[in-house]
Amino acid sequence: MSNVLSVSSGSASSRSRYADFSRTGSGTLAGRYLRMFWQPVFVSDELPRGRARLITLMGEEFTLFRGEGGRAQVLGPRCPHRSTALSVGRVEGDSVRCFYHGWRFDASGQCVEQPAEIAGLEHEVKVRSYPTREYLGLVFAFLGEGEPPAFPHLSVFDSGGFVVAGRIDRGCNYFSQLENSVDEIHFNFVHRTSGFNDAGLNSKMPDLSGEETDYGIARYGRRGALVRRSHILMPNLMFSMAYDHSSGWTEHLGWRVPLDDYRHVSFMVDLVHLEGAAKEKYFADRAAAEAKLRGLPSVEEVVKKILSGELHITDVEDRPDLLNVQDMVALMGQGPIPERETNHLGRTDQQVVLLRKIFTRELRALEEGRPLKTWTWPSDLTVSSGVA
Ligand code: FES
Ligand SMILES: [Fe+2]
Repeated sequence: MSNVLSVSSGSASSRSRYADFSRTGSGTLAGRYLRMFWQPVFVSDELPRGRARLITLMGEEFTLFRGEGGRAQVLGPRCPHRSTALSVGRVEGDSVRCFYHGWRFDASGQCVEQPAEIAGLEHEVKVRSYPTREYLGLVFAFLGEGEPPAFPHLSVFDSGGFVVAGRIDRGCNYFSQLENSVDEIHFNFVHRTSGFNDAGLNSKMPDLSGEETDYGIARYGRRGALVRRSHILMPNLMFSMAYDHSSGWTEHLGWRVPLDDYRHVSFMVDLVHLEGAAKEKYFADRAAAEAKLRGLPSVEEVVKKILSGELHITDVEDRPDLLNVQDMVALMGQGPIPERETNHLGRTDQQVVLLRKIFTRELRALEEGRPLKTWTWPSDLTVSSGVA
């Protein structure tokens, strides 16, 4: 029996479908699709009151600002007067005043003041405003057309433990990381020297299974009595258990959000179950790791040297961000946008195949104007790294 799945054929239709997954600029199929869902756009703690930032997501620029009252808001990128970036403007109350000639815009995007113009015409000018919310330490926005879907909620993050949010900007297409998120087998190879080893994840090859659900994909990696249950919440969120020495097991969310077609940001949330001295040690370890990383070359620099042969992965195994370096060697090693149509997929790629089938189906429906599947994230969804 062949070890290669028949879906690996490089037909013209699979070629164009696979290319569609990766392109997310305004008006592209995957870009339109991702914009139909709430997406994280920034880490809440990194946006102080009274400050604005120019952010780029899916190749499109936006203004993000936090009013002096604390409200975060996403607006279009440029002032409608003569196009200066609104992000360099001054935040006043819950509005932003353009740096160039002082026009002022409220959170709805309405111009409310044009100090050097004839008074009374400001109501004719508006910049686009996007629905904006904060949840689990992240700022979310709905960047699509029409009404946003219901805002998602996962009740496991409501009780016990504390939530830590962060981001990693990565030099690969978001879909490469999304495929990596359903690839259980890579732990045994990419992460064979990592904290996951201590958690027993690398000691045996897993038996893999999974299926499409109302929310995306449920998948299971069984290693003897240890069953790792993880999920993809459509379209671009991984929900799994993660592990490192300092935090122990955490419930982990990882949104893969395109910056452009060649880079993405993984917005991550961990629910950490530590108290007292262990909690203090966790934050001390984090601070020490961050201090160490400030003195080291960036992940992308290191990975480029590894890919060129200047360095070997074993040369950097003392980096605190080793897990990320390991993933990025595999993913940047696939090239900026992998040639999926030439893949020879095996039995351990069943969830990768399922993910590609779902995206193919939904993007085709979107292209042809047919109804899309309505994904429902169950609030009580849980993950497991436990013993069956
Ligand atoms: S460019 Fe903004 S007020 Fe002139
Ligand atoms: Fe990984």
